[in-house]
Amino acid sequence: MIVATKTLAVVPSLLAGDLSRLGEQLDQVKAAGCHWISVDVMDGHFVPNLSFGPDFVKLAKKKGFCVDTHLMVTNPLQVAPWFVEAGTDILTAHIEAVEEPVAALKKIKSLGVKAGMAVKPKTPVDGLIGCLAECDLALVMTVEPGFGGQKFMADMMPKVAALRAAIDAKNLECWIQVDGGVNAVNIAQCAAAGADSLVAGSAVFAAKDPAAAFRELELKARAAFKPQQQP
Ligand code: DX5
Repeated sequence: MIVATKTLAVVPSLLAGDLSRLGEQLDQVKAAGCHWISVDVMDGHFVPNLSFGPDFVKLAKKKGFCVDTHLMVTNPLQVAPWFVEAGTDILTAHIEAVEEPVAALKKIKSLGVKAGMAVKPKTPVDGLIGCLAECDLALVMTVEPGFGGQKFMADMMPKVAALRAAIDAKNLECWIQVDGGVNAVNIAQCAAAGADSLVAGSAVFAAKDPAAAFRELELKARAAFKPQQQP
Protein backbone atom coordinates (compact mmCIF):
# COMPACT_ATOMS: atom_id res chain seq x y z
CA MET A 1 0.00 0.00 0.00
CA ILE A 2 1.42 3.44 -0.89
CA VAL A 3 0.81 6.14 1.74
CA ALA A 4 2.04 9.64 0.84
CA THR A 5 3.67 11.05 3.97
CA LYS A 6 1.96 14.35 3.09
CA THR A 7 0.76 16.04 -0.09
CA LEU A 8 3.49 17.77 -1.99
CA ALA A 9 3.38 21.60 -1.84
CA VAL A 10 4.50 24.28 -4.26
CA VAL A 11 5.53 27.25 -2.12
CA PRO A 12 5.67 30.67 -3.79
CA SER A 13 8.45 32.88 -2.46
CA LEU A 14 7.54 36.46 -1.58
CA LEU A 15 11.00 37.60 -2.70
CA ALA A 16 9.81 37.64 -6.31
CA GLY A 17 6.51 39.38 -5.52
CA ASP A 18 5.63 42.82 -6.89
CA LEU A 19 5.74 44.97 -3.72
CA SER A 20 3.31 47.45 -5.27
CA ARG A 21 0.59 44.77 -5.44
CA LEU A 22 1.72 41.94 -3.16
CA GLY A 23 -1.72 41.52 -1.57
CA GLU A 24 -3.33 41.10 -4.99
CA GLN A 25 -0.72 38.54 -6.06
CA LEU A 26 -1.21 36.58 -2.85
CA ASP A 27 -4.97 36.54 -3.50
CA GLN A 28 -4.31 35.24 -7.02
CA VAL A 29 -2.22 32.25 -5.90
CA LYS A 30 -4.57 31.56 -2.99
CA ALA A 31 -7.47 31.31 -5.45
CA ALA A 32 -5.37 28.81 -7.43
CA GLY A 33 -5.13 26.53 -4.38
CA CYS A 34 -1.86 27.74 -2.85
CA HIS A 35 -1.82 27.39 0.94
CA TRP A 36 1.89 27.90 1.82
CA ILE A 37 4.11 30.97 1.26
CA SER A 38 7.87 31.30 1.90
CA VAL A 39 9.30 34.55 3.28
CA ASP A 40 13.03 35.07 2.65
CA VAL A 41 14.74 37.08 5.40
CA MET A 42 18.18 38.41 4.44
CA ASP A 43 20.48 40.50 6.66
CA GLY A 44 23.17 41.74 4.24
CA HIS A 45 25.82 39.74 6.15
CA PHE A 46 24.97 36.05 5.76
CA VAL A 47 23.93 36.85 2.18
CA PRO A 48 24.72 40.01 0.15
CA ASN A 49 21.15 41.28 0.15
CA LEU A 50 18.56 42.80 2.49
CA SER A 51 14.92 41.73 2.25
CA PHE A 52 11.93 41.41 4.55
CA GLY A 53 11.09 41.87 8.24
CA PRO A 54 8.30 40.33 10.34
CA ASP A 55 5.59 42.56 8.81
CA PHE A 56 5.70 40.50 5.60
CA VAL A 57 4.99 37.35 7.59
CA LYS A 58 2.03 39.20 9.14
CA LEU A 59 0.74 40.08 5.64
CA ALA A 60 0.91 36.47 4.45
CA LYS A 61 -0.76 35.25 7.67
CA LYS A 62 -3.49 37.86 7.29
CA LYS A 63 -4.15 36.41 3.82
CA GLY A 64 -4.65 32.98 5.41
CA PHE A 65 -1.44 31.18 4.35
CA CYS A 66 0.82 28.76 6.17
CA VAL A 67 4.13 30.63 6.29
CA ASP A 68 7.70 29.39 6.41
CA THR A 69 10.33 32.01 7.27
CA HIS A 70 13.70 31.25 5.68
CA LEU A 71 16.30 33.01 7.86
CA MET A 72 19.35 33.85 5.75
CA VAL A 73 20.94 35.70 8.66
CA THR A 74 24.04 35.30 10.85
CA ASN A 75 21.96 35.35 14.08
CA PRO A 76 18.85 33.18 13.41
CA LEU A 77 18.15 32.33 17.06
CA GLN A 78 18.30 35.99 18.06
CA VAL A 79 15.76 37.13 15.46
CA ALA A 80 13.57 33.98 15.62
CA PRO A 81 11.19 35.34 18.32
CA TRP A 82 10.33 38.37 16.11
CA PHE A 83 9.00 36.07 13.39
CA VAL A 84 7.23 33.77 15.83
CA GLU A 85 5.53 36.88 17.20
CA ALA A 86 4.52 37.76 13.61
CA GLY A 87 2.83 34.35 13.29
CA THR A 88 5.20 32.23 11.19
CA ASP A 89 4.36 28.49 11.20
CA ILE A 90 7.87 27.26 10.32
CA LEU A 91 11.26 28.87 11.00
CA THR A 92 14.22 27.68 8.97
CA ALA A 93 17.80 28.54 10.00
CA HIS A 94 20.97 27.83 8.02
CA ILE A 95 23.27 25.12 9.37
CA GLU A 96 26.19 27.43 8.46
CA ALA A 97 24.86 30.03 10.94
CA VAL A 98 24.35 27.89 14.07
CA GLU A 99 26.85 26.38 16.53
CA GLU A 100 24.90 23.18 17.15
CA PRO A 101 22.09 22.24 14.68
CA VAL A 102 20.16 19.92 17.03
CA ALA A 103 20.20 22.48 19.85
CA ALA A 104 19.16 25.20 17.40
CA LEU A 105 16.22 23.13 16.15
CA LYS A 106 15.13 22.42 19.74
CA LYS A 107 15.37 26.12 20.56
CA ILE A 108 13.17 27.02 17.54
CA LYS A 109 10.60 24.36 18.52
CA SER A 110 10.61 25.68 22.10
CA LEU A 111 9.19 28.90 20.62
CA GLY A 112 6.12 26.93 19.53
CA VAL A 113 6.77 26.67 15.78
CA LYS A 114 8.01 23.99 13.37
CA ALA A 115 11.79 23.95 12.89
CA GLY A 116 13.69 23.82 9.63
CA MET A 117 17.38 23.61 8.76
CA ALA A 118 18.94 24.67 5.43
CA VAL A 119 22.19 24.00 3.59
CA LYS A 120 23.83 26.25 1.01
CA PRO A 121 25.06 24.64 -2.23
CA LYS A 122 28.69 24.31 -1.02
CA THR A 123 27.67 22.71 2.31
CA PRO A 124 27.54 18.89 2.33
CA VAL A 125 24.20 17.33 3.30
CA ASP A 126 25.72 15.15 6.07
CA GLY A 127 25.14 17.74 8.80
CA LEU A 128 21.49 18.01 7.81
CA ILE A 129 21.07 14.21 7.81
CA GLY A 130 22.61 14.18 11.29
CA CYS A 131 19.85 16.40 12.73
CA LEU A 132 16.84 15.02 10.81
CA ALA A 133 15.26 13.51 13.93
CA GLU A 134 14.74 17.07 15.22
CA CYS A 135 13.83 18.56 11.81
CA ASP A 136 10.34 19.37 10.59
CA LEU A 137 11.80 20.68 7.32
CA ALA A 138 15.14 20.13 5.59
CA LEU A 139 15.96 22.78 2.96
CA VAL A 140 18.40 22.18 0.08
CA MET A 141 19.35 25.47 -1.60
CA THR A 142 19.54 25.06 -5.37
CA VAL A 143 21.10 28.50 -5.82
CA GLU A 144 23.67 30.47 -3.83
CA PRO A 145 21.24 32.26 -1.47
CA GLY A 146 20.70 36.00 -1.73
CA PHE A 147 18.74 36.74 -4.86
CA GLY A 148 15.78 35.43 -6.81
CA GLY A 149 15.85 34.68 -10.52
CA GLN A 150 19.13 32.69 -10.47
CA LYS A 151 19.87 29.48 -12.43
CA PHE A 152 18.79 26.17 -10.85
CA MET A 153 21.70 23.95 -9.72
CA ALA A 154 20.73 20.43 -10.81
CA ASP A 155 23.84 19.01 -9.08
CA MET A 156 22.07 19.57 -5.76
CA MET A 157 19.63 16.69 -6.51
CA PRO A 158 21.84 13.98 -4.91
CA LYS A 159 21.45 15.89 -1.62
CA VAL A 160 17.67 15.69 -2.00
CA ALA A 161 17.83 11.96 -2.79
CA ALA A 162 20.08 11.33 0.24
CA LEU A 163 17.62 13.18 2.50
CA ARG A 164 14.66 11.25 1.02
CA ALA A 165 16.42 7.92 1.66
CA ALA A 166 17.31 8.89 5.25
CA ILE A 167 13.81 10.20 6.05
CA ASP A 168 12.03 7.19 4.53
CA ALA A 169 14.44 4.70 6.17
CA LYS A 170 13.63 6.14 9.61
CA ASN A 171 9.98 6.87 8.77
CA LEU A 172 10.46 10.48 9.84
CA GLU A 173 7.92 13.25 9.33
CA CYS A 174 10.09 15.90 7.66
CA TRP A 175 9.47 18.05 4.59
CA ILE A 176 12.27 18.12 2.02
CA GLN A 177 12.27 21.61 0.55
CA VAL A 178 14.21 22.92 -2.43
CA ASP A 179 14.61 26.62 -3.08
CA GLY A 180 16.23 28.50 -5.92
CA GLY A 181 15.64 28.61 -9.65
CA VAL A 182 12.77 26.11 -9.46
CA ASN A 183 10.56 26.37 -12.55
CA ALA A 184 8.27 24.40 -14.89
CA VAL A 185 11.30 22.82 -16.62
CA ASN A 186 13.07 21.43 -13.53
CA ILE A 187 10.33 20.99 -10.90
CA ALA A 188 9.62 17.39 -11.93
CA GLN A 189 13.32 16.59 -11.39
CA CYS A 190 13.10 18.04 -7.85
CA ALA A 191 9.97 16.03 -7.00
CA ALA A 192 11.35 12.84 -8.56
CA ALA A 193 14.48 13.21 -6.39
CA GLY A 194 12.18 13.27 -3.34
CA ALA A 195 11.45 16.93 -2.59
CA ASP A 196 7.86 17.54 -1.38
CA SER A 197 8.05 21.28 -0.70
CA LEU A 198 9.11 23.29 -3.74
CA VAL A 199 9.83 26.99 -3.35
CA ALA A 200 9.30 29.00 -6.51
CA GLY A 201 9.69 32.78 -6.67
CA SER A 202 10.18 34.11 -10.19
CA ALA A 203 8.45 31.09 -11.76
CA VAL A 204 5.24 32.18 -10.02
CA PHE A 205 5.29 35.91 -9.31
CA ALA A 206 7.23 37.01 -12.40
CA ALA A 207 4.80 35.06 -14.60
CA LYS A 208 2.11 36.94 -16.57
CA ASP A 209 -0.50 34.81 -14.77
CA PRO A 210 0.83 33.73 -11.31
CA ALA A 211 -2.25 31.56 -10.64
CA ALA A 212 -1.82 29.59 -13.88
CA ALA A 213 1.94 29.33 -13.28
CA PHE A 214 1.30 27.99 -9.77
CA ARG A 215 -1.18 25.40 -11.04
CA GLU A 216 1.22 24.24 -13.78
CA LEU A 217 4.07 23.83 -11.27
CA GLU A 218 1.85 21.87 -8.89
CA LEU A 219 0.61 19.56 -11.64
CA LYS A 220 4.12 18.80 -12.88
CA ALA A 221 5.52 18.27 -9.38
CA ARG A 222 2.67 16.00 -8.25
CA ALA A 223 2.98 13.87 -11.40
CA ALA A 224 6.66 13.26 -10.68
CA PHE A 225 6.58 12.75 -6.87
CA LYS A 226 6.76 9.13 -5.65
CA PRO A 227 5.20 8.99 -2.15
CA GLN A 228 6.95 6.92 0.49
CA GLN A 229 6.34 3.19 -0.04
CA GLN A 230 4.85 1.69 3.12
CA PRO A 231 5.20 -2.12 3.58
C1 DX5 B 1 17.47 32.74 -2.04
C2 DX5 B 1 15.99 32.87 -2.13
C3 DX5 B 1 15.45 32.58 -3.56
C4 DX5 B 1 13.96 32.68 -3.63
C5 DX5 B 1 13.45 31.89 -4.81
O1 DX5 B 1 18.13 33.46 -2.92
O2 DX5 B 1 15.47 31.94 -1.24
O3 DX5 B 1 15.91 31.32 -3.88
O4 DX5 B 1 13.36 32.18 -2.51
O5 DX5 B 1 13.63 32.68 -5.92
P1 DX5 B 1 13.58 32.07 -7.40
O6 DX5 B 1 12.53 31.00 -7.43
O7 DX5 B 1 13.23 33.25 -8.28
O8 DX5 B 1 14.94 31.53 -7.64
